[in-house]
This record gives sequence, C-alpha cells and structure tokens, in this order.
Amino acid sequence: MYLTEDLEMTIHANDMASPGRRTENVRSQSEIELADLASRCMPAGTFGNIPEPVVISRGAGARVWDESGNEYIDYLLGSGPMLIGHCHPEVNAAISDQLTRGTTFFANNPQGIRLAAAIADAVPCAEKVRFVCSGTEADFYAMRLARAYRKRDKILKFEGGYHGMSDYGLMSLMPTEDVPFPEPIPDSPGIPDSIQADIAVLPFNDIDLMRRFIREHHDELAAVIVEPFQRLIAPRDGFLEALREVTAETGVVLIFDEVVTGFRFSYGGAQAYFGVTPDLCTLGKACGGGFPLAAIAGRADIMDLFDRSKVGDERFLVQLGTLSGNPMAAAAGLATLNVLRQPGTYEKFFATGRKLMDTLNEMLQRADLPAQVLGAEPLFDVIFHRDEIRNYRDTVSGDAWLTGTFNALLRQRGIFKGDTKYYVSTALGETEISQTIDVWASAIEALKHAMKSRPADS
Ligand SMILES: Cc1ncc(COP(=O)(O)O)c(C=O)c1O
Repeated sequence: MYLTEDLEMTIHANDMASPGRRTENVRSQSEIELADLASRCMPAGTFGNIPEPVVISRGAGARVWDESGNEYIDYLLGSGPMLIGHCHPEVNAAISDQLTRGTTFFANNPQGIRLAAAIADAVPCAEKVRFVCSGTEADFYAMRLARAYRKRDKILKFEGGYHGMSDYGLMSLMPTEDVPFPEPIPDSPGIPDSIQADIAVLPFNDIDLMRRFIREHHDELAAVIVEPFQRLIAPRDGFLEALREVTAETGVVLIFDEVVTGFRFSYGGAQAYFGVTPDLCTLGKACGGGFPLAAIAGRADIMDLFDRSKVGDERFLVQLGTLSGNPMAAAAGLATLNVLRQPGTYEKFFATGRKLMDTLNEMLQRADLPAQVLGAEPLFDVIFHRDEIRNYRDTVSGDAWLTGTFNALLRQRGIFKGDTKYYVSTALGETEISQTIDVWASAIEALKHAMKSRPADS
C-alpha cells in the first residue's frame, strides 16, 4: 500500500529516494541541474512531450523513477509503446543479441523481414508492410499513397482525431473554435494555406452526415483517415461498418490509424477487435517495442505503388528512410509481439483495464464528482463532465481545471500519466492495481478539498 502523507513527510526528511519509496515533491540536486540544463539548451526546456521539468531516468516493469529517485506507477508507457512494461527480459535479450550483430544497415535484415511477416500474419488488412520510423511518417505516407492510388487529393478526417504532426495531420486535431463542418482548422502556424483545401473535417460518430458527405464528394476524395477508437471515444454501433460500406461503394480508400490501437485492442488491432477491415492502416508504438519504428500496411494493390517493378516509373511512389526497418527496433518489436501472442495475455490485460476503469468510476460516483471514466480497457481517463461523450466537441466541454488539478494530485502521489489518458500495461500486477486505487482515494479526497478554494476565474 502507499504510504500515508505524514509517513511520507518523515521519509522525505530521513531517507531520500531509496528504491520502492516515493519522496513526494522532493527533487534532487541532480534533477534540478538537469532541468536547468534542459531549459538552457532546449525550447521550453523539453523534448516537446511532457511539459513538466520531471526527468525520468529509469523504468522497470510497470514503474518508472525520476532522477530524484521518486517512484511512479507508469500509465504513460512512453506515450504507448511500452505495452508490456519497461525492460521486459525477452525484449532486452533480443536487443542485446542484435546489438552484437550491428545496429543499422539500410538494407533488408532478418529481424525487419520477420517483423513485417508477423504484422502481415496478425493484422487483417496487412497484405504488405512498409516500415518508417514514426506514426507521423506512417500517416503522412498512407495519405500520400491514397492520393497517388486514387489520383485525387482530398482527405476526409474526423475532428479531434490525431494523425501525426505533418501539415496534413495537424488539421482540426484540437480546434478551439467551432467552425462549420467540413472546414478544417490548422493546429499550427506554418502550415501552408493551400493544404486546407485538401482536408475535409466531420464530427466522429455522426453516421448520417458521414455517409451523405462521402456519397456527395467521393469524386474529390482520395481517402478517409480515422482512428477506429478516436482518442478515448468508442465508435458508436455501426459507425465503422457504415464507413467501410460507403468507402467500398465509392472506391474511396479507408485508412485506419492504428498507431495507438494496433496490437493494443487485440493482437490484430482495432480492425480485428471491431471486425472492420480497412484498405490501409498505420501502426506504431507497440510494434516498435520502445524503439522508433512504425509501419504502413494494407492491400497489396495499393501498397504496390511502392514497387516500381509492379507499377512502372509513372505510378511509382518513392519512399525510403535511413533507419527504416532498423534491426534493433525490429528485434524489439518482434520480441514484444512474441510476448503479446502468448495465450491469455489479452484476457489478463483486459481484466486489469476493466478493474481499473470500474473501480475509478465507482470512486468518482461515490465522491459525487461530476465525472465519468471514458475509454476502453487498454486506455481510459476521467472526463469531468456527466453527459454522454460522442465526439471531440463533447470532450472539450469537460472541466479543464478539475482535470488539471486531479492530474497534478495524482503525479504528486506517484501516478505517472499524460494529460489525457491512462495507458494500461500488461506489466501491472495486483500490487500496482491496489497502489493505484490507494492513490485515487487520496487524490479524490484532496481534489474535493481543493474544490472548496477553487479560483473564481478557473
Ligand atoms: C493515433 C495516432 N496517430 C499518429 C501518431 C503519431 O505517432 P508518432 O508520435 O510516432 O509520430 C500518434 C501519436 O501519439 C497517435 O496517437
């Protein structure tokens, strides 16, 4: 069980940072110096990921430790890749072995080929696989591939869906104003105005609008790109099926962005979980085992545009990258997939996620907080809002002050998570679950207390 706050205070004074103990809010000289160095040499003092000055120096299983020795249960999982936990022995053995053979070749290598075959075996749409190094790249190339295949430029996406950081991906990911659909809003300065003309945006989960739009505009559309489970929002019954039906009927390429859901919702990803097979998908995070690896996968006749010998000079789509199919990354990915394939893995993983979600929901209701747990067993979070959440605009109506305050209280108590989700790992055991529940109980009490002195302008 987690320590009471009084006991923790005593430990702060007596015992900085012995393993297994948390020293809440205590930062070592070394962490302070590193944060200072970071702020001098990097914009915002960060890599652009987690905004706080925390420096994570170690991970093992379901836990991470910061440079000051504070221990956390890890629900960030490196933003998803560490699905089977940190330093998994089978992954470490595979990368140690590869390390002795060489780390990159810019050429076919056994690990990369075997990983491509494993992906093709696992993922329903994956007749052919092409590796890149990040989800951003995978999405960018999948959209280009669809444009080249269809000889049309426009991509339809859903508001709030994340498809990487490219000029095309960063459209209406987190708009702060409600413009009329299908108008896109760029999420960053520096994106050429011309790109907006090639993106259309609709609300997730509106079957009628989506069907009508695709039927009316299919002749301009190259593809529809969608997260089959958009952030924390489940597709409503029939949404993915209708999307599949209308894209098949009109010839528009359907791309599932499975960078998050791949190998997480099931071994075959969200497409196997929901039983809807797209034309193309993108994969990342889990299949790289903690290394920079992602993939575009899909129908052979579309993927063959990457093969000059099949399609000729005119239609050939050039695609390469220095580290594509990197053997270290592929070894880690392959070892991760081997672990995930073991019988019972997903049953246990889903049972853990279900227990966490149900317990948290119950605790929030018992505390009479205006909140709900949104998501599914592999990933979820609290939304401080009681109404049904069907799309992006519903999620932004949540109470941001409560979310931020609760997340800060959790971090202080030893839960390491991003602003918007808990990623569940297969490394979580009974001890971590019960510690998490203790942290929730303490953080909920503290939140109720904080609400009494909530700033008027928050
Ligand atoms: C659904 C989805 N697509 C694409 C990406 C981009 O992946 P990467 O960060 O590897 O570029 C992410 C990253 O979180 C994602 O969640």
